[in-house]
Amino acid sequence: MTTEQAAPETAAAQAIDVQGLRKSFGELEVLRGIDFSVARGEVVCVIGPSGSGKSTLLRCVNLLEEPSAGRVTVAGTEVTDPDVDIDLVRRRIGMVFQSFNLFPHLTALENLTIAQRRVLRRDRPEAERIARANLERVGLSDKASAYPAKLSGGQQQRVAIARALSMEPELMLFDEPTSALDPELVGDVLAVMRGLAQDGMTMLVVTHEMSFAREVADRVVFMDGGVIVEEGTPEQVVGAPQHERTRTFLARVLDPAAAEVSEVADTP
Ligand SMILES: Nc1ncnc2c1ncn2[C@@H]1O[C@H](COP(=O)(O)OP(=O)(O)OP(=O)(O)O)[C@@H](O)[C@H]1O
Ligand SMILES: [Mg+2]
Repeated sequence: MTTEQAAPETAAAQAIDVQGLRKSFGELEVLRGIDFSVARGEVVCVIGPSGSGKSTLLRCVNLLEEPSAGRVTVAGTEVTDPDVDIDLVRRRIGMVFQSFNLFPHLTALENLTIAQRRVLRRDRPEAERIARANLERVGLSDKASAYPAKLSGGQQQRVAIARALSMEPELMLFDEPTSALDPELVGDVLAVMRGLAQDGMTMLVVTHEMSFAREVADRVVFMDGGVIVEEGTPEQVVGAPQHERTRTFLARVLDPAAAEVSEVADTP
């Protein structure tokens, strides 16, 4: 038995391990002591109201934000260690944002090969082979030579996912990947993410898509006010929330019209 098997609870055995994470912007403390971890192959969805610190948490995982306190470990490497080579760590993490940030002057294929060639030093044939395989994985084989402006928002987001996959990351972070999309385009992107989950990708996903969280997540984390209020299986957190704050949030997300009516009714 290896040491890693003997101690599955240690930070090193997790894909992501966060201990005592705090983050302030000036006077404003946005993360107020976060402890949580994501196991390899696990899909964790983070839900919570606007401003609760979900994006900041994700950004602290790959050090786009520098934590004010606490320890963050990614795939066994402590990223909060001052001596860490963060570029090396970031190569192992795929990140997909709400906005796709594709290069407008490059084709879909070129958007997928540029970082492979510059960062991973792959030669053109290998980078293109990997790029085409990933375009196929997201259902866009026929769009290799299209420029982003000629693609729908959902197609652009799928190119962005394929671009992240082309770097062959060990885990993927998603920050509301479908919230900028027209409703009819959301399904295709979620289908791609569902496929990744089925293939065993480790995923940390901030989302308001409760049906996705229910079907795909192994675990759901509810954040409010910079803390984790509760976490558990989707059945527990979405199906039978223990805390009033979670119930209020879910009522709003699952049935915005009804929540509005009750707010109006509550007004004296
Ligand atoms: N760079 C920054 N400088 C100052 N304040 C910031 C910065 N980034 C985030 N904040 C503040 O931190 C708080 C949490 O922001 P964050 O983006 O993490 O929330 P969120 O849960 O992702 O919200 P949303 O659902 O709207 O995306 C907010 O009050 C926000 O204004
Ligand atoms: Mg956010």
